[in-house]
Amino acid sequence: MKKMWSGRFRQPLDPEFELWQRSFSFDKRLLKYELTASSAHARALKNAGILSADEMISILEGLQKIGEKAAASPAFLDDSEAEDVHHFVEKQLAALIGDTGYKLHSGRSRNEQIATDLRLYVRASIDELRQELAAFCGVLADRAGQAADAAMPAYTHLQRAEPVLVAHWMLAYVEMFLRDASRLADCRKRLNVCPLGSGAVAGATLPLDRGFMAETLGFDAPTANSIDATSDRDFALEFVQALTALTLHLSRWAEEMILFSSQEYGFISLPENYSTGSSAMPQKKNPDLLELVRGKSGRVIGHATALLITLKGLPLAYNKDLQETQEPLFDSSDTVLQLLPLVTGWMKAAEFHQDRMQQAAQSGFMNAWAAATYLVRHGVPSRLSHEQVGKAVQIAMEKGCELQDLSLEELHAINPAFGPDFYHSLTLASVLPIHDVPGGTAFTRVQLALSAARKKIDSLREEVHAHA
Ligand code: ARG
Repeated sequence: MKKMWSGRFRQPLDPEFELWQRSFSFDKRLLKYELTASSAHARALKNAGILSADEMISILEGLQKIGEKAAASPAFLDDSEAEDVHHFVEKQLAALIGDTGYKLHSGRSRNEQIATDLRLYVRASIDELRQELAAFCGVLADRAGQAADAAMPAYTHLQRAEPVLVAHWMLAYVEMFLRDASRLADCRKRLNVCPLGSGAVAGATLPLDRGFMAETLGFDAPTANSIDATSDRDFALEFVQALTALTLHLSRWAEEMILFSSQEYGFISLPENYSTGSSAMPQKKNPDLLELVRGKSGRVIGHATALLITLKGLPLAYNKDLQETQEPLFDSSDTVLQLLPLVTGWMKAAEFHQDRMQQAAQSGFMNAWAAATYLVRHGVPSRLSHEQVGKAVQIAMEKGCELQDLSLEELHAINPAFGPDFYHSLTLASVLPIHDVPGGTAFTRVQLALSAARKKIDSLREEVHAHA
């Protein structure tokens, strides 16, 4: 029996078509999940009285042997006949244990098998990705802790806006990436139902205990509708979409690191172990890691689009188009799983020039809002204080100095409310602490935010551990 379905055919397939429609070259990576899902099915067959205890044991042993052979030698998977991973396992099982092997497929369809294998694959990928995210966030938090009370400019419209703590800036990224971890957890929750027992479309033709199979495979429940279960790839789409948000964040992070490592900013030195040189310009050190991170986001966004378009317009239930959802799914997961340890390593190795950052935080009128706040505290209406400090900025710009370099006389000409304590209110040591609200950049608030972030990272680690 070469094929799983040749009975009703009189003619052999066109050889080119036959090769072209196969999925084994890429779905072989699902072997591990195919074997576990098949074991659960074999147990259910035995419970339903279709397999004898001996037959079940022989099938379970055969499945285990297939796993061992694959682990021992990748060449075992070079099969010139296998159409897909399901066919491969059936063939190998029959080769190992004889005709009993062909009993495994009783009451099931490849449509439910692939839906199950893919859910198991995505679930495992999510666990791995969340572990890597915890490691990355851990390093971001460490760097925030090391930055202590160092300051830097924060930008809006890429123009200097207000000084912030370097730690506050780092923690902004922690928030972003923890959101990605939580999006993946959300996707995991929804995908964790078991299609086994859905059959080809209408439900299994044998009285299989679906609850038992779901539980054996660590799913929360069986899927509710066999038509939906065999045609649904929402979990793949949601997963890849969650990865587009994650790569988009990585891309924004990379872009900022590239900017800050340019001579124009000079805030960061690129770590040599993650940079490359130029074959032409001897002085160059280029941010290739960061650029590739930024570039890879395009690839994952492309995969999400491919999935959307593949699924759009498919009638219920299984259609072979669904086979086309596998490669974009696998590549998205592989791409991000490769990226995360690299960005974690980069983040550990990057050198911050806190002196330059601190210096930049103290020029360019970034204390202007604090100056206006000084007037507001003296009873001046906000709109007026804004206008008057704006005037002061204009005078200082004409003189080529900062606000704190203006004399009290010059300031009094604008508003007599300016007192000698105004100068103190303009120092970095005064400007930062007035942002004293939860989520603000005052030192004590940032310390609290840092310990809150560490707690979130720890519970992310614990959640991932609990799933292992
Ligand atoms: N290789 C197929 C896929 O990935 C498995 C399901 C095949 N089902 C079928 N009815 N031809 O979608």
